[in-house]
Amino acid sequence: MNTSRPHSIDYIDDERYQWWSKPHLESIVNRLEIGAVSSMLDVGVGGGHWGTLLASLYTDRIEIAGVDVEQHWVTQSEYAYKEQVPQHCYTASKGDAHHLPFDDRQFDLATCQTLLMHCHTPRQVVNEMVRVTKPGGSLFIAEPMNYVNRVLLSSCLAASEIDTTSLWKVWAYYNRARQIAGYGDENIAATLPTLLRNHPDLTSINAFQTETIRIGQPDETIQTIQSEFEKPQIVNHMMEGGATRKQIDDAASTLSRLRKKLENQLVTSPTPLILFATQKHS
Ligand SMILES: C[S@@+](CC[C@H](N)C(=O)[O-])C[C@H]1O[C@@H](n2cnc3c(N)ncnc32)[C@H](O)[C@@H]1O
Repeated sequence: MNTSRPHSIDYIDDERYQWWSKPHLESIVNRLEIGAVSSMLDVGVGGGHWGTLLASLYTDRIEIAGVDVEQHWVTQSEYAYKEQVPQHCYTASKGDAHHLPFDDRQFDLATCQTLLMHCHTPRQVVNEMVRVTKPGGSLFIAEPMNYVNRVLLSSCLAASEIDTTSLWKVWAYYNRARQIAGYGDENIAATLPTLLRNHPDLTSINAFQTETIRIGQPDETIQTIQSEFEKPQIVNHMMEGGATRKQIDDAASTLSRLRKKLENQLVTSPTPLILFATQKHS
């Protein structure tokens, strides 16, 4: 019996609806003139937060397929699409993004959000997304620069009297170990432009950032990162990347000091996501 928890279960919740504002996303779709699609593929659909927001921009009924490697998310996405965008026709299936279970040239739009960051061979996933897209169709790929989230968070910059370099180090070790071990790249937005440019069937690349900036107490952001230090898998990755136990403890204690120091202050907290829009040759 498989008793493991569904992929990304700790990271998929309704806060994702705050990542992109609908007017901003709508303005991107209008600028790129991709407002008239009749079919869409949502790869690594998860709880459907990204796909349903994007689909809500389309008023005419479209056919949407969702695919996820986890049965749990296949089922959850069915609930989400039915509740959020009942005007569209949604079907979900279980499958691996590296081998999409669809014919060539099937969709006007293939999209994913925070999927490639988890994939062992993102190039192959992009190849697959291009393969199932119709000539003249588009790819919409939203992926993060999580280093920004974990290290450059404004809370750190707001307390210049605290030395935060210990944080930079342990997260750099963590990123390195994950990439080497084939768990994916949490900063994949940094390398995606090259990957997309090198695909022979793609014509242009546009990139957009989330426009919403959260303003809040640093406590919340710092607590989220502190809780990461309590996850054995994350600490193991830091150590596999080269961090010592002492460096990890120093980083954790830096976070505690930041949290105390910044109590009752307000800081900005950007969502470090970049949306790449690219088109397949017609
Ligand atoms: C962080 S979630 C993103 C969910 C959704 N796209 C969103 O933005 O809310 C990543 C999702 O990708 C799925 N996933 C991870 N690796 C996959 C793969 N190789 N093929 C298909 N789905 C995958 C996970 O099960 C999970 O549902």
